[in-house]
Amino acid sequence: MKRKSENPVGRTAPRKTGKPGLPLPAGPFQGLICAEGWEEALIGEVARRFPDRQLFSAKAGVVLVSGNVAPLMKSWVFAREVLPDAIEVNEPSVKTLVQSLGKLADGILDRSPLPWTFRVQTPDAWTLDGDVYVEVGGRAGLVAAAFRERMETFRRRAMERYRDWQTLSDRQPFVLVQCLILARDLAIVSLGETFRNIAGRLVPAPWPNPGLLVKSDPMAPCRSYYKLEEAWIEAGREPRPGEVCVDLGAAPGGWTWSALQRGAAVVAVDAADLESKVSDHPRCNHLRENGYAYLPPRKVDWLLCDMIVKPLATLGLLERWLEGGHCRGFVVNIKFRGKDPSSILASIDELRERFGLLNLGIRHLFHDRNEITIFSPPV
Ligand SMILES: C[S@@+](CC[C@H](N)C(=O)[O-])C[C@H]1O[C@@H](n2cnc3c(N)ncnc32)[C@H](O)[C@@H]1O
Repeated sequence: MKRKSENPVGRTAPRKTGKPGLPLPAGPFQGLICAEGWEEALIGEVARRFPDRQLFSAKAGVVLVSGNVAPLMKSWVFAREVLPDAIEVNEPSVKTLVQSLGKLADGILDRSPLPWTFRVQTPDAWTLDGDVYVEVGGRAGLVAAAFRERMETFRRRAMERYRDWQTLSDRQPFVLVQCLILARDLAIVSLGETFRNIAGRLVPAPWPNPGLLVKSDPMAPCRSYYKLEEAWIEAGREPRPGEVCVDLGAAPGGWTWSALQRGAAVVAVDAADLESKVSDHPRCNHLRENGYAYLPPRKVDWLLCDMIVKPLATLGLLERWLEGGHCRGFVVNIKFRGKDPSSILASIDELRERFGLLNLGIRHLFHDRNEITIFSPPV
């Protein structure tokens, strides 16, 4: 179920310009997009690392952060998209917003020889059911179409360098023009060349949302399958043919199916039934055992765990596996079950330090609900 929160939330700063609009001080600010209802979790996450920043949620699914961008360009747990060096644009109509956006875009496109792309969206554009989408999703579509028409009519040279995001890779820098529509007369605009963060990844990424990279599979036994498919993308590594996985809490078989499709062998541990196409697979060994107590006789390549148990119990299980050296890598889903995300993140940080998990990723995936997924691929 979606968590709803009051807006604005967190610490707000008085606006110094006296104009109506976003209550931010003058100066640069960054936009971060999270799932609707997770603004407080994202504010808490940013505030822990940057206690001096002013932070507030402008609308469901958006957190604005005062100050310069560079230190913020890491991978966040709760932020899915980033709008670096954003500015507020107040325009009453689609026409005037497109004019403003066009003038801003012309500046950067004249200066940069890189390919470019643009997106005009609402923060909840990919769930299609949030309040902002319902209110101004149609307007975002109109602005996108009118902006494209303007560029095709008046900026043909620039359009020669235009690329759809699907054709861009996260290895080659490009210029990204982003317009986030928050209300009928309020948008935030971010323009600039993408750059590499400390993990070597381009920020912002070419794709509006990593969840969009996951391919649909009509054979998938359940929705959970898509969480693991997204986790492989985020981890930059997936099981290889011949690798061995243990899947704890495997029924009805989505995660096991995902690993089997990649040629891995899977020990699927769950008292419940797996779909027959999964349990009958020659590389699947279904054990009706307690996943919390199960340990493999030999070290395996991947621990996969999606059991519905309390978050600290899941982390305790992972700790035992790491302590005993039972896996080379893992993908573990942690259900919050009413627990405060910040205390869970603190426990995960302890594990990271204790076991030197340099490649640990922690994400609130597009396909996650009241849960996060952590992963550390085998090296
Ligand atoms: C969210 S479902 C897992 C879905 C699975 N990842 C998939 O893609 O099909 C959670 C599963 O955890 C299992 N489970 C809960 N406690 C368990 C335990 N102690 N040992 C093994 N399985 C357990 C439940 O039976 C349930 O099938």
